[in-house]
Amino acid sequence: MLYFSLKMSELLVIAGVVIGVLMIFRIYVNGARCKSKAKLHGKTVIVTGSNTGIGRVTAVDLARRGARVILACRNQTRGQAAVDVVQRESGSKNVVYMQLDLASLKSVRSFTETFLKTERRLDILINNAGVYMQGTTEDGFGLMFGVNHLGHFLLTNLLLDRLKECAPSRIVTVSSYLHNHGNIDFDTLRTHKEFGVGAINSDLARNLNKMSRRLLKGIAALFFKDVEAGAQTTLHCAVQEGIEALSGRYFSNCAVQKVKAKAQDDAVAKKLWEVSETLSGLS
Ligand SMILES: NC(=O)c1ccc[n+]([C@@H]2O[C@H](COP(=O)([O-])OP(=O)(O)OC[C@H]3O[C@@H](n4cnc5c(N)ncnc54)[C@H](OP(=O)(O)O)[C@@H]3O)[C@@H](O)[C@H]2O)c1
Repeated sequence: MLYFSLKMSELLVIAGVVIGVLMIFRIYVNGARCKSKAKLHGKTVIVTGSNTGIGRVTAVDLARRGARVILACRNQTRGQAAVDVVQRESGSKNVVYMQLDLASLKSVRSFTETFLKTERRLDILINNAGVYMQGTTEDGFGLMFGVNHLGHFLLTNLLLDRLKECAPSRIVTVSSYLHNHGNIDFDTLRTHKEFGVGAINSDLARNLNKMSRRLLKGIAALFFKDVEAGAQTTLHCAVQEGIEALSGRYFSNCAVQKVKAKAQDDAVAKKLWEVSETLSGLS
């Protein structure tokens, strides 16, 4: 009997140590948190793709800080449902849905027209929406290029004057460490290009097949950041005081990061800007 209870206590100690190690590991995986206590009363923020994932967590935090938050989402039902969640979780009623489909340049123009007519301010624009799936946009561009880059490029440019009027204002464009592994192929910008999955446990992988999703779910629970943690760098860039001099830099884990030489190539950046102006109909 004594032997058994000794074994039980050993087991309990081992279980406690394992749980403790796992908890410390999860804290490590989730990484740094936005430390700013900045309030945003009187400020207006747009968060694209904020009906789920990192975008919705970002919207809740900004609404808690007192901002008027515009949920710019493509689907009315999901967008309205997110308004309820964000209002409930933030305790703020100053949260509204506006329809924006970044896979349609017409929709981007219509969104900005409505926004500029109905809203006086724009203090922070968060380009968060993103897809990881094949397909083409309404305008015939590869879906990932069209939504993740081109739609946001047009959106940002059409909102730039309002952002400047409300200066000091900020634009945060959510990106991925995967940019380190890519090159821009200007000849095939209109086609889909495969890339791997990032490391935050959100809805981004919803378009993978069932088997891959199940496998990913198990791995994600242990090794991926949760969405709360995934939103921290976005929030840091949106509200942290004292980082103004770092405008234009790449942030990860709430800190500015060095990027590879190819990500600092001004000639490529200029070419991408010009191509994007042409493809989005800005020039
Ligand atoms: N998860 C990661 O591991 C990871 C890693 C690095 C970077 N990121 C980036 O983080 C950002 C947020 O991703 P997430 O992980 O939160 O993904 P998510 O859970 O899949 O959320 C993506 C959001 O984008 C919206 N969206 C997709 N296509 C759109 C369109 N055409 N127009 C407007 N909105 C559209 C989605 O709306 P619907 O619900 O209507 O589809 C959804 O609200 C993305 O830019 C992603 O590339 C994610």
